[in-house]
Amino acid sequence: MRKQYRLTMALHIEKTTKSKISEVDFNNLTFGKIFTDHMFECDYENGAWQTPQIVPYHPLILDPSAKVFHYGQAIFEGMKAYKDDNDAIWLFRPDQNQERINKSAERLDMPAFPKDLFFEGLNELLKLDKDWVKKGQDNALYIRPFIIATELCVSASTSNKYKFMIICSPVQSYYTGEVKVVFADKYSRSANGGVGAAKAAGNYAGSFYPTKLANQQGFQQVVWTDSCTHEFLEEAGVMNVFFRVNDTLLTAPVSERILDGVTRKSIIQFCEDKGIKVEVRPVKVTEIVEAARKGELLEMFGAGTAAVVSVIGAFSNKGENFELPKVENSFATIIKKGITDIQRKKTEDKFGWTYRVK
Ligand code: COI
Repeated sequence: MRKQYRLTMALHIEKTTKSKISEVDFNNLTFGKIFTDHMFECDYENGAWQTPQIVPYHPLILDPSAKVFHYGQAIFEGMKAYKDDNDAIWLFRPDQNQERINKSAERLDMPAFPKDLFFEGLNELLKLDKDWVKKGQDNALYIRPFIIATELCVSASTSNKYKFMIICSPVQSYYTGEVKVVFADKYSRSANGGVGAAKAAGNYAGSFYPTKLANQQGFQQVVWTDSCTHEFLEEAGVMNVFFRVNDTLLTAPVSERILDGVTRKSIIQFCEDKGIKVEVRPVKVTEIVEAARKGELLEMFGAGTAAVVSVIGAFSNKGENFELPKVENSFATIIKKGITDIQRKKTEDKFGWTYRVK
């Protein structure tokens, strides 16, 4: 990994003089539309990260020639903060996001962001905007760290200037209800040797057109298959994907095509602890179709930070439609409750996943 050069300058904090919080209807939030009063930013230039700052949330002024607009050198993370009954604020496995943004940075030839600055900035930002984190089962603060290339030049080469930022958005549920999906047999989200394992903005941009086509056919999401053969099931929409065949959960191993999801790995560990069998191995389209025909495919769900667990109620493969049964005590329900209870400190965190904002 590239060295994390930084200047040793203290975090500069400028507080807002007018909070927007009283204008927000916290019972009626659309995911990712409203942002808190402050944001964290830090610029990279002359080979080093410069003075980190927390400032009132504001639009960026960027010259149109900034490289991010032309070559898509942009990566991000998604995390959530929760407030417990005692008003303490908790993050879920933030170390994983901190490590992953630097893995993404390496793949996109961007500088790694120093771990100590990441945590200092995040902590201070959450302390300042603590009133935006609401209690209650459906409420969370979605945290979006990201890095963009800011060098002003349209030559197609890596940027020598970047901006790291953290913005925060109060959210409720990401998806409501079950979704219908279609297995991809033409378009791909990622390819061998590509950037699928990175949380690169372009991975999402490239998925929008196939998703629009799926939407036009009545499906909310595409289940991405491997780009060479379309025979293996890899991710669902913007999430990792799990299949329950009889009493075993199946999910694909992470690879250079598949994102190493924090929720995915937490689910695997949680299930192993609960005695739910999980097989992490390539999952064939044909075996899932076959299991559905035999009535052995009991559940399918996506797993990610935003939705935690998103139940898939039906799928289509090569024009053939399948409905999933309604099962009692579904694994999806057990897992969602188990993970969200840990996130919200409603149950013991025996895995050491929760991190208190100090
Ligand atoms: C996630 O749930 O992990 C995400 O990255 C969601 C985001 C694309 C809105």
